[in-house]
Amino acid sequence: MSRTIIVSNRLPTKVLRSEDGLTFQPSEGGLATGLGSIYRADGNVWVGWPGLFVDDPTEQAHVTQQLQADSMAPVFLTENEIQDYYEGFSNGTLWPTFHYFSQFALHNEKHWQAYVAVNEKFCQAVLELAGPDDTIWVHDYQLLLLPAMLRRERPEATIGFFLHIPFPSYELIRVLPWGPQLLEGLLGADLVGFHTFGYMRHFLSAVAHLLGLPNQNGLVETADRTVLVDAFPMGIDYQRYAETAASEAVIKHERTYREALPGMRVILSIDRLDYTKGIAERLLAFEQLLKRHPEWRGQASLLMVVVPSRDQVAQYQGLKVEIDELVGRINAKYSTIAWTPIQYFYRSFPFGELVALYRLADVALVTPVRDGMNLVAKEFIACKTDQRGVLILSERAGAARELSDALLINPTDTNQMVAALHEALLMPKEEQTARMTHLQDLVRQYDVFAWTKLFMDRLAYSKIKQHLLD
Ligand code: UDP
Ligand code: G6P
Repeated sequence: MSRTIIVSNRLPTKVLRSEDGLTFQPSEGGLATGLGSIYRADGNVWVGWPGLFVDDPTEQAHVTQQLQADSMAPVFLTENEIQDYYEGFSNGTLWPTFHYFSQFALHNEKHWQAYVAVNEKFCQAVLELAGPDDTIWVHDYQLLLLPAMLRRERPEATIGFFLHIPFPSYELIRVLPWGPQLLEGLLGADLVGFHTFGYMRHFLSAVAHLLGLPNQNGLVETADRTVLVDAFPMGIDYQRYAETAASEAVIKHERTYREALPGMRVILSIDRLDYTKGIAERLLAFEQLLKRHPEWRGQASLLMVVVPSRDQVAQYQGLKVEIDELVGRINAKYSTIAWTPIQYFYRSFPFGELVALYRLADVALVTPVRDGMNLVAKEFIACKTDQRGVLILSERAGAARELSDALLINPTDTNQMVAALHEALLMPKEEQTARMTHLQDLVRQYDVFAWTKLFMDRLAYSKIKQHLLD
């Protein structure tokens, strides 16, 4: 039977070291949460890093065994690989460049060498697992070279690639000393997928400018094969969120939160700590709301969940300090004995409590300065079982291309964000319901299962097209 081998840097389960030894927890981030619902079907396997440095062979065997039981195969990274490939090239070079933060991007040859070596390591791990009929589905910017490496070893393999972050204008790729190699790496796949047509167009233009390969209707002719390029906006497991939101346990959690915040309007903000998420800009907008509209003081609170992320990378450490200071300043200025303007949590929440927060919120404030898709916006929508609540969404998130019934804002325009917050808090119930019903219809229909099917259908089509063109 043919299976799908999913390959990504991070597995959907992460291993943590505590006083009691190694423990296992769900990973955060849209790739892990989004694909978490689909990978177990039909004997599929997920290959990736378990998120922790484990060098003891006994511990490695224990981790391998635990993960294997849940259809995962770990790739262990050394401390140097974590530093140079993960924190270095992936998150110090590619992440900032692809999100238009090239002022943060490191250009370090050692990091690049480690990136090549770890992509090779993943290649070996996949080759050991994948049979000739298996489909290999590679995910995200940490593994851009892997499709071509696999192709070299298995010329006939079916290989798909999906990028979960934006693909930037080719001008940014041109600045990278390794741009052409990265593009060639991707063209090892039969199908290369992006969240939006904009990202897809940028990729095709980079391929044309840097590799001299034109395309026709998304088909790129390489020296030996035709590669299909297309857009697939990723969805969520809608039913899982909607059903959990309607469950007794979650309703109870929500009640407990409400009792702690009697009569309060709740504005919700949830992200990994990341400079692409516009967290500081969001805090400044909330501060301006309290300044310009004093009627909301004591009436509305910002409930802000910031999930720790990549805390060994310099920019992330700096941002943590900046956010702590901003929250401290705003709370010190406006707090009363009875009211705290910002309820700030620097940790991740278990699934049920996260869903209860989505239920609780009157407004979700999702304002990234750049975001490939943003699944938090879609999860909020799926959890509003009473069709109430307002989504304020950055026009620079991939999700904005689909969610046009949200209040769309420019995340660097404080005035616009303040106006949207004020409008959201005053929005009549009928308008909330009308907007939310449309949003739910869309997110329900284009869920993660529809997304996977569409990607797999296009991958099969790409193979057929290649044979016809042979
Ligand atoms: N998330 C989580 N635990 C938390 C907070 C968030 O698992 O405490 C999840 C959230 O439900 C969402 C993901 O992290 O599925 C974030 O994905 P998104 O696409 O919004 O952004 P990314 O982190 O991938 O940039
Ligand atoms: C984004 C990326 C994922 C990544 C996640 C969490 O969603 O697209 O590839 O896994 O962030 O980041 P981390 O560095 O912790 O894996």
